[in-house]
Amino acid sequence: MTEAAWARGAITALRAEPAPATPLRRAIARFGGAVVHLKDESAHPSGKLKHRLIRDLLLHALASGDLREGATLVEATGGGGALSLGHFANLLGLPFTAVMPARAHPAQVAAIESLGGRCELVDPPLAIYTTAERIAAQDNGFYLDMFNRAEAATDWRTGNIGSELLAQCDTPPGWVVCGAGTGITAATLARHFRYADAPTRVAVADPGHSAYFPGWASGDPGYGTGMPSRVPGIGRPRIEPAFRIDLADRVVPVPDAASIAAMRYLAERTGTRYGPATGTCLWAARQLAARTGATGAMVIVAGEGGERYRDTYYSDAWLAGKGIDTGPWRSVLEESSG
Ligand SMILES: Cc1ncc(COP(=O)(O)O)c(C=O)c1O
Repeated sequence: MTEAAWARGAITALRAEPAPATPLRRAIARFGGAVVHLKDESAHPSGKLKHRLIRDLLLHALASGDLREGATLVEATGGGGALSLGHFANLLGLPFTAVMPARAHPAQVAAIESLGGRCELVDPPLAIYTTAERIAAQDNGFYLDMFNRAEAATDWRTGNIGSELLAQCDTPPGWVVCGAGTGITAATLARHFRYADAPTRVAVADPGHSAYFPGWASGDPGYGTGMPSRVPGIGRPRIEPAFRIDLADRVVPVPDAASIAAMRYLAERTGTRYGPATGTCLWAARQLAARTGATGAMVIVAGEGGERYRDTYYSDAWLAGKGIDTGPWRSVLEESSG
C-alpha cells in the first residue's frame, strides 16, 4: 500500500467513529437568576474533552502527509491527553508514547499502559516538550505537539464544541465558562459564536498559579508565572500560543480550594463525579452571576469525569494532608445557590 492510500484509510477510520454531540445536562445549579447547564465532555469515547483536539490533530497530520504508516505517536502531556491519544492510537493500530512529568500519578501511568502505551517519565516537568521531540525524531515517531498545532488543526466554523452547543440550545446561552489548557477550547468557542452571530460570551475559569488571568488582566500575552497548575488539564505557567487574550470576554481567577469545593458540591447535586477543572468552571459561573448580575442560561464545560480522583481531590484525608480547607468555599456556594 502506498503512503497516500494508508493515510486515506486512516482518515476514513477516524471519520467512521461515531461522534454524537456530547450531552448538555440542564439546570445542574442556579445562582441568583442564572441557570447553569453542563456540557459533558466526559462522554467522549476516551472520557476527555481532549478527544476533540487529538482527533483533529491526527486528521490534520494525515491530510497533510505528516503522519506515516507504522509511526509511533508521541505526545508531551500532564497525563490526561494521553488517554485520548491512546484511544486513537489503538483505532489506527499505531504504537504510542506519553512523555510525562516524573511526579505523574501511578494510576495515570497504569491507565496509559493498560491502553498499550509506553510512558516516558521526565524531570524537570518542563523537559517533557524537548524530550518528546527527541524521542519522536529518534524513533520513527510523530510528535503531535498539541500546544503549537492546536490552532491550525481545529475547525472553528463547523463540527466543533461551539456549533454542537448552539444546536442544543433553543436560544444561545449568555455565557459559556471553560478552563484553558492549550486554550483552543476557549478560542474555538469565541470564534464560533462570532461566526454564528450568537451573543454568547466566553469566560475562562483559571486556577491558582496560572498565567492566563494575570496575562488577560494586564493585556500582556508574554506573561509567565513559571508555576505549574494544581488543577489537572487547565491553567498554564505561560500564555500558550492557541490562547488569544482578546477573545476571552472574562478570565475569572479561582482559588484551588474553591475549585475542589465546587467539584464536590456538584457531585452531590448531580450524583456524578467530574474532575477538579469542572469545579473551577462552576465556581467561576458563581462569581460571574454574583459580580455581573448575569441572569439566564450559562453553560459550564466539564472536561473529564472524576473517578480517577477518588483517592486525591475527593478524599478528605488527602485534602487534610495537603492543608486544604474547602469549608469556607462550600458555605459561599450554599449561600449563593438556589
Ligand atoms: C479537564 C479539562 N482539560 C482541558 C480543558 C481545556 O483544554 P484546552 O484549553 O486545551 O482546550 C478543559 C476545559 O474546561 C478541561 O475541563
